[in-house]
Amino acid sequence: MGFDQYHEPPDELPPKTRTFARMIASLIEEAEAIGWYEQRLAVEKDKEAKAIMRNAQHEEFKHFGMDLEFLLRRTPKWRETLKGILFKAGDIVEHAEEAEEESD
Ligand SMILES: [Fe+2]
Repeated sequence: MGFDQYHEPPDELPPKTRTFARMIASLIEEAEAIGWYEQRLAVEKDKEAKAIMRNAQHEEFKHFGMDLEFLLRRTPKWRETLKGILFKAGDIVEHAEEAEEESD
């Protein structure tokens, strides 16, 4: 079992920060899984195998979303910034710049 999510001595970190670090590690793993399934789906020829992989990737979307929501509920500034970026049409970079300014 790895403890790579810590960049400071774990015993010096408060429980909330350790939980936050675990959820960040989980978010990264879910994002990696989504990417891996994307690659597998791109090369798989068998329809049935593809359907299973598509279903599995869909599960990872959900896992990623739950991890992200958990983290955002505990990080208001992050949440505020993402509110300005996510689920909006238009220029992503422009929205991000505006969201950064508004959340400062
Ligand atoms: Fe997952």
